[in-house]
Amino acid sequence: MAGAVSIRGLAKEFGTRRVLDGLDLEIAPGEFVALLGRSGCGKSTLLRILAGLDAEVEGAFSVPDKVSMAFQQPRLLPWRRVWRNISLGLHGVDGRAVAEKALAEVRLESHADAWPLTLSGGEAQRVSLARALVREPELLLLDEPFGALDALTRSAMHRLVEQLWREHRPSVLFVTHDVDEALLLADRVVVLEAGRIVAEHRVDLPRPRRRASFVDLRVEVLADLGVDDVEAA
Ligand SMILES: Nc1ncnc2c1ncn2[C@@H]1O[C@H](COP(=O)(O)OP(=O)(O)O)[C@@H](O)[C@H]1O
Ligand SMILES: [Mg+2]
Repeated sequence: MAGAVSIRGLAKEFGTRRVLDGLDLEIAPGEFVALLGRSGCGKSTLLRILAGLDAEVEGAFSVPDKVSMAFQQPRLLPWRRVWRNISLGLHGVDGRAVAEKALAEVRLESHADAWPLTLSGGEAQRVSLARALVREPELLLLDEPFGALDALTRSAMHRLVEQLWREHRPSVLFVTHDVDEALLLADRVVVLEAGRIVAEHRVDLPRPRRRASFVDLRVEVLADLGVDDVEAA
C-alpha cells in the first residue's frame, strides 16, 4: 500500500559489531511512529538504511517510492540562497515557485532570498523541513530534527510538524531521545534496544496533546528505556 513500510529481520553490522539484529517493524500508510532508544543503539543507522543511503544489510524491507529525510543539523548549503536549497535537485518544475509554496507552509515566505547563515536554528530547521516536504514524500524520516533547538522553538516546531503531517499525511518515522516529544506527536512509540524493537505503545490521545494527558504512559516508556525516573512519577 502507498506509504506503508515493512521491515523484516533487518540486520546491520559494522565490522564485528551487530548494530541491528533481526529488527521487525511495520508502519501503516499515514501513521506517525516515534522511535526511541539510547544513544548509539542504531536509530540513525536504521533511518539511513530506509532512506537508501546504506545498502549493505541483511533481511528485507520495503518503503514507498518517495522518501525524504531531515536531520538534526539542517545541512543547508551556505552558498545557496534559501529557496535554492529547497529546490535543489528538483527537475521539470518551477523551482522558485515550488520553494516559495513550501516556505509559506513553514511560515518563512519572507526568507526565500536569505542566505542560510543568517537564519536562526529554528528557521534553518524549518527550511530543512520545507526541503523534505517539497518532494512530497510518502515516507518522512526525521532524525532528531529538534534536538539542537531551545524549548520554545521546539514547541513551535512540534505544532508545525503536526500540522504538516495532518495536511500531507506522509507516513512518519521520527527519531528522538525525548519521551515527551514522542508522546506529544506519535500514533505509536517504539523502543529500539540491542538491535531490535523491544517495546511499543499505542498513543490513543486526541491532538493537540498536553503533557498532563500522558503522565502514566510516560513512566511506562521511561521504564522500557531503563530509566527509573522519580521526576517522571
Ligand atoms: N559508518 C559507521 N561505521 C562504523 N560504525 C558505525 C557507523 N555508523 C554508525 N556506527 C556505529 O553504530 C552504532 C549505532 O549508531 P547510530 O545508528 O548512529 O546510533 P543512534 O542514532 O541510535 O545514536 C554506534 O555504535 C556507532 O558508533
Ligand atoms: Mg542518531
